[in-house]
Amino acid sequence: MPTSIITRPATSGDLPEISNLHARVFGPGRYARSAYRVREGKGLMTRFCRVAVDQDKIVAALRMTDVTIGKISGAALLGPIAVDPAHHGQGFGRKLIAEAIQSARDAGLRLIVLVGDEPYYGRLGFKLVPHGHITFPGPVNPSRILAIELKPGALSQVRGLIVAVQPPQA
Ligand SMILES: CC(C)(COP(=O)(O)OP(=O)(O)OC[C@H]1O[C@@H](n2cnc3c(N)ncnc32)[C@H](O)[C@@H]1OP(=O)(O)O)[C@@H](O)C(=O)NCCC(=O)NCCS
Repeated sequence: MPTSIITRPATSGDLPEISNLHARVFGPGRYARSAYRVREGKGLMTRFCRVAVDQDKIVAALRMTDVTIGKISGAALLGPIAVDPAHHGQGFGRKLIAEAIQSARDAGLRLIVLVGDEPYYGRLGFKLVPHGHITFPGPVNPSRILAIELKPGALSQVRGLIVAVQPPQA
């Protein structure tokens, strides 16, 4: 990874640039993505959101939102993560995800869920969630619902609909 690139927590001031990055990476279909649907335009920049910056330009962004699953708190939904196409394959995705996992662990969360490619996220510790265990507000391919337990047995302690919630106040 180029040494000029740093990662840092995202701020609400980064939102326009993150939106531009999402538009470049995902195109108009981005609003149909699972993480967008779960947040339903609530914004919800959280303490877990991070960006990678190259000479003042955001080249990768990860968003993560506090959620309840079956009305039980202690989980987060990771996504979207977007890396500028010119910077793909240089470790940005991996680094932002590792940092997000660590920050969730530090905050005492029990579980992180995402919708994504198992061949990529499996290498980072995410495992397939049994079909029907977690449901989303829109249609989701069940073979793409993945989770990483930050506390042993965390997945078996929740079941049902995933809903975005306001993060706890610091
Ligand atoms: C998917 C994405 C976040 C990965 O980030 P990245 O910084 O490019 O990837 P990393 O440098 O962390 O990892 C690169 C490795 O992952 C692999 N990889 C990347 N995307 C993959 C995928 N969808 N499935 C399987 N492997 C994948 C690469 O082949 C590479 O493998 P190697 O280490 O054996 O060479 C990025 O490519 C991206 O923004 N893609 C478009 C948007 C997207 O699909 N986002 C995820 C859904 S929210």
